[in-house]
Amino acid sequence: MPKADIGLIGLAVMGQNLVMNMNDHGFTVAVYNRTTSKVDEFLAGPAKGSKVVGTRSIEEFVAALKKPRRVMLMVKAGEVVDQFIAQVVPHLEKGDIVIDGGNSLYTDTQRRVEELGKKGLLFLGSGISGGEEGARHGPSIMPGGAPEAWAAVKPIFQAISAKVEDGTPCCDWVGKGGSGHYVKMVHNGIEYGDIQLICETYHLMRAAGCSNTEMAEIFSAWNRSELLSYLIEITAKILAYKDTDGSHLVDHILDAAGQKGTGKWTSIDALELGMPLTLISEAVYARCLSALKEDRVTAAKVLPGPAPKPLKDRKEFVESLRQALYASKIVSYAQGFMLMREASRQYGWDLNFGAIALMWRGGCIIRSIFLGDIKKAFDRKKDLHNLLLDDFFKKAMTGAQSGWRSALARSLEWGIPAPCMTSALAFYDGYRSDRLPANLLQAQRDYFGAHTYERLDKPRGQFFHTNWTGTGGSVSSTTYNA
Ligand code: 6PG
Repeated sequence: MPKADIGLIGLAVMGQNLVMNMNDHGFTVAVYNRTTSKVDEFLAGPAKGSKVVGTRSIEEFVAALKKPRRVMLMVKAGEVVDQFIAQVVPHLEKGDIVIDGGNSLYTDTQRRVEELGKKGLLFLGSGISGGEEGARHGPSIMPGGAPEAWAAVKPIFQAISAKVEDGTPCCDWVGKGGSGHYVKMVHNGIEYGDIQLICETYHLMRAAGCSNTEMAEIFSAWNRSELLSYLIEITAKILAYKDTDGSHLVDHILDAAGQKGTGKWTSIDALELGMPLTLISEAVYARCLSALKEDRVTAAKVLPGPAPKPLKDRKEFVESLRQALYASKIVSYAQGFMLMREASRQYGWDLNFGAIALMWRGGCIIRSIFLGDIKKAFDRKKDLHNLLLDDFFKKAMTGAQSGWRSALARSLEWGIPAPCMTSALAFYDGYRSDRLPANLLQAQRDYFGAHTYERLDKPRGQFFHTNWTGTGGSVSSTTYNA
């Protein structure tokens, strides 16, 4: 008699912790791993004394599952997901559910929903955030895919997910197709932005002469302000952390960033959709530049920067940095939601932005008090066009603006790069400009290539061409936009 409520394939860190989390919530979980010795180790180790059912073949695994079968994959994104789908599908029957909980590319998920759908199977692509700790004690879960599958996984996912103060789970139905993984991808892009913003703040504080211990205290204090968030909290702890010899560990870590690709995917999709996701894209490039360590070491010896200028009031500077961080963070989230809004429109997902903010409020890497403020903004106006136009955030931007500008003026004077903060300010100033210099740009395109332009004094959609040199023809090129 099959007894498992759900089966999980892939006993790496995230998989094991999710299984134990499900077990703690009263669900019976069957597990399988390609290297079957891992199943034995798991049963003898973390799962000892639990209800977890160990299986050593796909047949045994599937046979252990109650119907409709719920098969969750926690394996490396990419081909491995397809390989396991191919192995498991022949043993499933109509109405069974396959869930991919990894960091898969949303277009792969979209394809899998369609392919399995043709076989009568229900596929879900579910973003899961929160790392090891989150998986074990309450992650943020972002499921999307075949809507018919939601009712069958909802009780399990909402039980194991993180909860906000009032008990609402940080897990809700995202939408059709690849939307669950899309939202997780944007979460990761925002994570890249948040991390880079904190790193720029740290860089500038260090340039201002703050010690690691002082910075740890400053970040701890900020974690009691509107910046309260998991990433600020761990930054304070990292800066205070001592190596075995008593020195600060952070000073010994090589300054070359890694990345697994989700930030890059977010930027690529923003380019595809024509959305100005400048901050996250700068965060991706900042990682790329950091990885060119050898180049930088060579260039540092030959390329001059400005002479250092002393700082009059460090306390005031630190406060301006706090404002710069806060304002830039608002811009980053505003851009992230702009991207999701456009994705929802173009891919036909009907995303619920308030629900997304709530899913990210707890459990995930970007969890913060700030996401509660975003949720409230969408509660005030469900179809809010842009976060920057919400009264709360408008006021916050007004309050933070002068500190933001003065902190960045310092960064320029000192030659300390702050690409995310700087691009955030450029975006803000661009977004609030009713006239940008694109009139000249359009004139240039028309001058050299007869690409045509629209006129301020004529209705939109009417295109004009000028024979600027008197020698060009009056034939214009087509006016399509990519
Ligand atoms: C999460 C994280 C996680 C991500 C890592 C590493 O939500 O728990 O986003 O999914 O894979 O943070 O990402 P990078 O290696 O690209 O920094």
